[in-house]
Amino acid sequence: MSSRRRFIQQSVAATTGGVFYIAKTSWAQKSPGDTINMAVIGFHGRGGSHISGYKAQAKEGVRIAALCDVDRAVLDKGLAGLDKDGGGKLKAAGYTDMRKLFENKDIDAVSIATPNHWHSLAAIWAMQAGKDVYVEKPVSHNVWEGRQMVKAARRYGKIVQTGTQSRSSREGIFAAVKWVQAGNLGKVLLSRGLCYKRRDSIGKAEGVQPVPDTIDYDLWCGPAPKKDLTRKKLHYDWHWTWDYGNGDLGNQGIHQMDIARWFLGEMALSPRVWSVGGRLGYEDDGETANTQIVFHDYEKAPLIFEVRGLPQGKSAKDMDKLKGAGVGVIVECEGGYVVVPAYTGAIAYDKEGKQIQEWKGAEDHFKNFITACRSRRVEDLNADILEGHLSSALCHTGNISYRLGAKEKPDAILEKIKGDRFAAESFARMKEHLAKNEVDVTKDMLTLGPALKFDPEKERFIDSEAANALVKDKYREPFVVPEIA
Ligand SMILES: NC(=O)c1ccc[n+]([C@@H]2O[C@H](COP(=O)([O-])OP(=O)(O)OC[C@H]3O[C@@H](n4cnc5c(N)ncnc54)[C@H](O)[C@@H]3O)[C@@H](O)[C@H]2O)c1
Repeated sequence: MSSRRRFIQQSVAATTGGVFYIAKTSWAQKSPGDTINMAVIGFHGRGGSHISGYKAQAKEGVRIAALCDVDRAVLDKGLAGLDKDGGGKLKAAGYTDMRKLFENKDIDAVSIATPNHWHSLAAIWAMQAGKDVYVEKPVSHNVWEGRQMVKAARRYGKIVQTGTQSRSSREGIFAAVKWVQAGNLGKVLLSRGLCYKRRDSIGKAEGVQPVPDTIDYDLWCGPAPKKDLTRKKLHYDWHWTWDYGNGDLGNQGIHQMDIARWFLGEMALSPRVWSVGGRLGYEDDGETANTQIVFHDYEKAPLIFEVRGLPQGKSAKDMDKLKGAGVGVIVECEGGYVVVPAYTGAIAYDKEGKQIQEWKGAEDHFKNFITACRSRRVEDLNADILEGHLSSALCHTGNISYRLGAKEKPDAILEKIKGDRFAAESFARMKEHLAKNEVDVTKDMLTLGPALKFDPEKERFIDSEAANALVKDKYREPFVVPEIA
């Protein structure tokens, strides 16, 4: 076994039940005080926070040594910004092709904020080149590649942090998770994730759109199909197309999916899943649902996820809220409920709705990554890649059911889902919400996906080849996510 593959089994993690390893790195020979050379990959939007997150740790020996973006305009702006802040001393290297960046032996770790279809391949390539990785959520574009990332992290002994920053709310959300799991509110009955976040139409493009000449479109598409650009905006709006994005479930929603699963303490995918929804209220070039319910049938208690991209009503500006949360999580228990209304805290209520506990506090998620890079202890990470894979994959399996669905009338939908605890209630609220937006679900019908049985060990569907065909993407050579033994 090569030294790269060697790892030292260290401890069994109480929170996950998983086995953790001391991770080796290309710079393991460095002493703890040495500089960590970071590279940020993709920074038109979220990557900007990565840059400022690492810049803020300059005093702790973190240096942004390189930037990479396939958009030359984004890259030049990023490099210029670094030069200015560093008084010209930093001299970060610039790349448009991440493969060249990975060849740079001076880089210790990379931070990935590209579109979703690139996350797994970029992360695995980086690990194979000896780098530690911080990777944005969802960590994967499909179920299969997420598992390959977990395997790669263990096999190559790398530190891999998921960009679900609410996991660094240790005195806030984590304290509430422990309190609920200790039984303070009795049995958990349901964990509900909410993503009520306004998403307007992305418009309708007329024919093929020009790709800005600053962008290397072949590299932008990477492992995904290289199709003509047929939406108005190349950047960001890919979230709403299946080839590159995962809808709002896999965008904002993955944060709350992760928190909802965290409370349940589930460390595997659900054994049965279905979804209902639609892209309603406008017609545009987007494909993913803007209104959706996902039902994960965990044995102990279900996890229900609700997406709403439309406002409270046709001419309303505000979004709906449920028990004070809009983008949040509600954990229903026998003796009351806990609401997670934001990324940094939680509030417990008794059955009558009286507040009984509150938790607040968050640490810096980028800093936590750097701490673990230095300690080489995977259990120092607040959001190890295994957590990221599971929560991302819960979004993917939900979307798979939706994508295999058929349009149905509301009564027929209710008939099929009513046997699942709490599902009928969620569906009734969804219908009410759509009616307020003047969506007539008897005409613009909702799509009900099949209830799919899933083998959490194999991470494959049972008895559905159509669903299994969506577990893994068809990669475009040479951008093929490798299978990790
Ligand atoms: N953790 C959070 O709170 C949070 C918030 C927003 C977005 N995100 C995540 O960050 C990611 C990026 O989202 P965004 O809104 O910034 O998207 P975006 O489209 O605005 O930016 C993506 C950038 O990546 C670049 N890029 C594309 N392919 C590349 C490649 N092969 N190599 C290098 N650069 C490449 C693009 O040119 C662009 O500059 C998404 O996965 C999203 O889910 C996370």
